[in-house]
Amino acid sequence: MNNMSKNLDIEFVRNKFPVFRNPKTKDLAFFENAGGTYVPDSLINKLNKFMTETKVQPYGDFSSSIEAGNEMDNSINKIAELLNIEKDEFIIGPSTTMNMFLLSRAIKHWLNKGDEIIVTNQDHEANIGAWRKLADEEIIVKEWSLNKDSAELEIDELKSLINENTKFICVCHTSNIVASINNLKEIVDLAHKNNIKVVGDGVAYMAHDLVDLKEIDLDFYGFSLYKTFGPHLALLYGKKELLEKTKNLNHEFLSKEIPLTLNPGGPNHEELACLSGLTDYYEELYNHHFSDQTISLHEKGKAIFKLVYSHEEQLMEKLLSFLKSKNNVKLIGKSTHLRSERMPTVSFTVNNKSSLFIAQEAGKNGIGIRNGDFYAWRCLKGLGIDTNDGVIRISMVHYNSMEEVEKLIKFLEINI
Ligand SMILES: Cc1ncc(COP(=O)(O)O)c(C=O)c1O
Repeated sequence: MNNMSKNLDIEFVRNKFPVFRNPKTKDLAFFENAGGTYVPDSLINKLNKFMTETKVQPYGDFSSSIEAGNEMDNSINKIAELLNIEKDEFIIGPSTTMNMFLLSRAIKHWLNKGDEIIVTNQDHEANIGAWRKLADEEIIVKEWSLNKDSAELEIDELKSLINENTKFICVCHTSNIVASINNLKEIVDLAHKNNIKVVGDGVAYMAHDLVDLKEIDLDFYGFSLYKTFGPHLALLYGKKELLEKTKNLNHEFLSKEIPLTLNPGGPNHEELACLSGLTDYYEELYNHHFSDQTISLHEKGKAIFKLVYSHEEQLMEKLLSFLKSKNNVKLIGKSTHLRSERMPTVSFTVNNKSSLFIAQEAGKNGIGIRNGDFYAWRCLKGLGIDTNDGVIRISMVHYNSMEEVEKLIKFLEINI
C-alpha cells in the first residue's frame, strides 16, 4: 500500500499492462496512444473468462447465459458510476464515428429546412462528417474556423455564427492534433442561452481526465473506450430527456420494458462484458494510492486523474523543452506543457524533413509514432499544412515513462 504517495506509481501502473511484460512488446516506446491505448490485465482476464465460459446469448435462464447478462449489466452500472450519470443516459456502440452518425440520424426529425448546425474545422471527421451530411436535407452547416496562427477556436468567432436558426454546435473537447482544451462550459452556456444543443467530442480528452458531464451541462458527449484503456467500443452520453426524444433506430419491440435505442443491434457482447475491467483497473490504481473508501467511483477516478495530471505534465515538460529548442521544428498549438491548457499530445512538422520518413525511422528504432492527418484533415488544411505528409504526432498517456520520453528525444536529436 502506498497511501501517502503524491506521485503516480508508474511501476505499479505498468505492471497492470501485460504488454509491458511481454518480451515481444515491452521495449516499444509507444507514443501513438491517441490512436488507441493498451489494455490492463483486469480487462483481458474478463474478456478471456467471457469467451471461455459464457459466450452464449445473454439474459437466458441457464447459468452461463445468466452470468453473461450479469457481466454485461455490471459493466453498464460501473461505467455509469464512473461517469456519474444514469445507466439509461448513454449508449455503447462500436466507435465514436458510428455513434455520431447514429445521433445525427436520430435527431434529424428535430430539424426543419433552413435550420443551422455549427461544426468546427479543428475537429476529427467523426464530429463533422455526420453533421455535414445533413446539408443533403437542406440543413445549413456552418464552419467555426480555427485561428490559423494559434490553431485555437475563438469564442468571438462562434458568437458571430450563431443566430435564431442555430440548433446544434458540434465541437471537440480536445482536438486530436492541436490538443488544447476547449472551454466546453463557456460554449455550452452560450449555446443554452440561445436555445442551442451542444454535441461534444471527448475522444482526445478522456484518456487524461474524467469529464464532469452534469457540471458542464452537456447535451451529448461521445468518446471512444478503446482510446481510454478499454475494448474497441465507444460511448455516447445524452441527457435523458433528449435521448427519449431521439428516434428509435433499433428494432420495434412488442415489450414496453425493452428500452428503445438509437444503437441498432446493441453493443458487442464480449467487449461490453469485459468493460468493467476498466473500472476495476481505476479502482486498483485508487486503492494503491489512496485509502478513503467512502467516496464514489467517480470521485476515485478524479483522484487518480489528479496523479495522472502531474505525471503527464512532467513528460510533456521534458518533451516540449526539447522540441522548442529545435529551430527546424514547427509546433502546432500552444507551446506550454501545462496540463491545465493542453493534453499530452504534440503535433509538429520539421522543415525539409518528411513526417513519413521520421515516423518510419522511429519505427525501425523501437518507437511507435505516426504521421498523417489523423482524420482531421480540415484542421491541417486550416493551418496550411500539407495533408499528404501531414504532421508527426506524439501522444502520451499515464503509463508512458520518463525513460521512454528520453529514448524518443535521443532518436529525435539524431533524426530531425
Ligand atoms: C478527437 C477524435 N474524435 C473522434 C475520433 C473517432 O473515433 P472512432 O475511431 O471511435 O470513430 C477520433 C479518433 O482518432 C479522435 O481522435
